[in-house]
Amino acid sequence: MSTDSFEYLMQKQISRRGVLQFGLGAMLASVIPLASATTMLRQQSSLIGFKAIPAADLLDKVVVPEGYRADVFFRWGDPVSDGPEFNMDASNSAAEQALQAGMHHDAIEFYSLPAGTANSDHGLLVMNHEYLDTQIIHPDGGFLDSPHTFTADKVRKEQNAHGVSIIEVERNDAGWQIKRPSVYARRITANTPMRIAGPAAGHPLMQTTADPLGVEILGTLNNCANGKTPWGTYLTCEENFNGYFSLADETLTSAEQKQRWKRYDLGYSYYGWQQFDSRFDMQLEPNEANRFGWVVEIDPFDPQSQPVKRTALGRFAHENVAHKLAADNRIAFYSGDDAPFEYIYKFVTAEAWDGTAGAHHGKLLDDGVLFVARFDASGKGCWLPLLFGQNGLTPEQGFADQADVLIHARAAADTVGATKMDRPEWITVHPDSGEVYVSLTNNSQRGEADVDSANPRAMNLFGHLIRFSEADATATEFQWEVFVLAGDEQHGATIKGDIFANPDGLMIDQRGLLWVQTDISPSKLNAGEFTAFGNNQMLAVDPRTGESRRFLTGPTGCEVTGVTLTPDMKTMWVNIQHPGEIPKLLEEKGIQKSPQKPNAASNWPDQQENGRPRSATVLITKEDGGVIGT
Ligand code: FEO
Ligand code: CA
Ligand code: CA
Ligand code: CA
Repeated sequence: MSTDSFEYLMQKQISRRGVLQFGLGAMLASVIPLASATTMLRQQSSLIGFKAIPAADLLDKVVVPEGYRADVFFRWGDPVSDGPEFNMDASNSAAEQALQAGMHHDAIEFYSLPAGTANSDHGLLVMNHEYLDTQIIHPDGGFLDSPHTFTADKVRKEQNAHGVSIIEVERNDAGWQIKRPSVYARRITANTPMRIAGPAAGHPLMQTTADPLGVEILGTLNNCANGKTPWGTYLTCEENFNGYFSLADETLTSAEQKQRWKRYDLGYSYYGWQQFDSRFDMQLEPNEANRFGWVVEIDPFDPQSQPVKRTALGRFAHENVAHKLAADNRIAFYSGDDAPFEYIYKFVTAEAWDGTAGAHHGKLLDDGVLFVARFDASGKGCWLPLLFGQNGLTPEQGFADQADVLIHARAAADTVGATKMDRPEWITVHPDSGEVYVSLTNNSQRGEADVDSANPRAMNLFGHLIRFSEADATATEFQWEVFVLAGDEQHGATIKGDIFANPDGLMIDQRGLLWVQTDISPSKLNAGEFTAFGNNQMLAVDPRTGESRRFLTGPTGCEVTGVTLTPDMKTMWVNIQHPGEIPKLLEEKGIQKSPQKPNAASNWPDQQENGRPRSATVLITKEDGGVIGT
């Protein structure tokens, strides 16, 4: 019996017995209250019901447990609506790519239709396309492989393969389908006009030749993970935006500017877009890079709506954003900055949310306080506000105003003394306890001298998870602990059950089950100390017991990232990113990928001769129609 049905039956029995013996009022007063009965039962029975699968070694397919199905659902190049079909020889034009799924699927989120319902048979899937493989997107590769055939059209195709896809999905007798055509379906790309809102809107540091007022940006880039606002919009996070901007000659740059760009690792791009699009040339457009690295809000229900960059949440390599409601209905938004020695942030809205749906609530994201976390050895921690004029964020330290503090959030966090973490990736909030879980994916640069209690490994090859709790979402103090050290026993891991390395994607579902997705870099995958973990994967972890069970393994060379469930938890979608990157084990055997041989490591999912690997969304259902994870 599943945990859910067990809980349900026990609750029913308690209430029936109560009503029969004592009457309803007496039962409520004297018998265990329902909420604590549920908690008690949750503590007694495992949240995980499926049989674990083994680690996969260079298996070029998706594997799920007995009793489950995994079906390829939406691949790079598939039309979002009734647009052009994908050409396996990569000959689709830039204009066609703008009507098709982007590359390198990352985070994903389901929205029920009609809006505001909890319908589990019809809705929208909104997902990010983080970056791309230029050896796979063009027949002869991108700038690095074929500099002499690099064109403005190639730049445009690459830009159109970035951003966000919105598709309409519906379940009928034949199962889940993508609805084509759909009035909701759209692509948001690196060229979609979007509004700038919050304290940095209109600031001189946000002004460019094309946008002298600093209020409208073309596009969003490196959309890694995501968030969902309680009022029903989508938040897409711009992560490694630095990798798109090029500085040919830094001798022309002031020392101050150089230092600020260095803090964001700006100056080198392997895409080469600057050759045909001047906004990626930092000499010509020194402020364009200030317009990326933000959280962008999108209303999936209104295909005419313009995305909005919410600058109050700060500029850094945003991984994802998770929220928690405070007792007074203000909202906290948590976001990690994924780079070695970067920080964990929390934005708290100034105003309370009235509990209703609608994109007009987006303005709540424009006014509030951005905090950064300091983890103390005592197991306590505090949130340090990044407010101009306070804690050293002054003109003497190089900060001109609040917009400057937000645009240079990393420098502001350095100034206030936040804790440098081992690459903060996803953050997720437990629906009952409000505990916040963070994945720290790895850091090979720390060394003994810089070890601290929140980042306890001098050489953090495998990563760890931290969890913290707060008295309220608005609290400026928290209590924290290391939840699990990833890796294998030999390396001091504390995993109970199936082992994993480099945790990245996280989601706690409505039953309280934690889903963990891994991102072992292809440069380490399937070899050496990483052999035992096999291909990248997704596991279910019970947060109360720490028990870990392997649920899904991905195809060769991929990362598993992004997961969402329907409200009834009976349908799950998981994204498979960059199948076909060369794992270390194959690299050691001399196998190389090239534009001429894009499928050297993987031919997933189509497995066609002369095919190419394609990032894709996978649909997961249980053969008995039950709740995923049971
Ligand atoms: Fe895009 Fe930090 O993962
Ligand atoms: Ca990630
Ligand atoms: Ca990745
Ligand atoms: Ca990662």
